[in-house]
Amino acid sequence: MALEMESMDNRADISQDVLSNEVFLDIRERIVDLESLPAPNSALVRLLGLLNQDSCTPRAVTKAIEKDPSLASQVLKIANSAFYGLRGKIKSIDRAIVFIGMEEVRNICLTACLSQQFKGLDFAPSFDIPSFWQHSLLTAILSRNMAAKMDWIATQEAYLLGLLHDLGRLVIASVMHDYFEKIISQQRASGTGLFEAELATGSPHTTIGSWLAIKWGLPDPVRDVILYHHNPTEAGRFTREASLVQIASFISKSFESSGLSGAIQVPASEVLALAGISEEELSQFTDEEKGLDKVVVDFFNVLFGPNGSRRHGS
Ligand SMILES: [Fe+2]
Repeated sequence: MALEMESMDNRADISQDVLSNEVFLDIRERIVDLESLPAPNSALVRLLGLLNQDSCTPRAVTKAIEKDPSLASQVLKIANSAFYGLRGKIKSIDRAIVFIGMEEVRNICLTACLSQQFKGLDFAPSFDIPSFWQHSLLTAILSRNMAAKMDWIATQEAYLLGLLHDLGRLVIASVMHDYFEKIISQQRASGTGLFEAELATGSPHTTIGSWLAIKWGLPDPVRDVILYHHNPTEAGRFTREASLVQIASFISKSFESSGLSGAIQVPASEVLALAGISEEELSQFTDEEKGLDKVVVDFFNVLFGPNGSRRHGS
């Protein structure tokens, strides 16, 4: 399925979920008008555009990356990291494309651009930045690897959906500090998962993330996976995509020593069926991917440097 960039004109479709009108309007207003969350940076826009072109060539990707020296440098560092097992062998973007493939280079770029977008922002004291990014990266890679075994979704689309699924958490933690801390207090008091604590406090990250997806004009599948990845059966024409990402997120949490969301939820059999995965295949896939969380740490360290591994604000 081709990803298509959308305009922001369908704001009326935004789900109000469980919010009171007052809270809904207040938070929506803050997201839509927030100056601290500008349009995505130009490198990210260029790469999203390239993803959308069937005729995209290695030369076009190389050119797009080389226009941004700091991005090019990050791509080379990640391509040479333990994640790909090619330490020191890749000296240029051209060579990176030869060694790890154009799709992988594009995925690295998207990840680097997205992390850059939020780098340097002031986050709520209780927000654990490394856990967030590790979960997003793991979910992206697991979504991609699952997609490689399926014939209904492109691997690059699955990676993007997995990478962006929890975008709303980044928004809450960066621009709604008080609200984020209230959610954490609610989670600690109730002993539930983070999503349940969000629902009990006000607006979930799914709804808030979908507003940013609209503000940024991200493609429909991205917006709807962000909105429905905790309730894939409600995702309308993107139920399969939302199911795939929920399953990847579940596997990711099972790999993380301290997941962001507290209690691990097992995907419902209905969700597995929607994605076309049997319980046996899920178990086999999970076994195959064990250890992925260890190599993702290296990927993360390149993006954020040694200071990125500390708990922000503590
Ligand atoms: Fe989520």
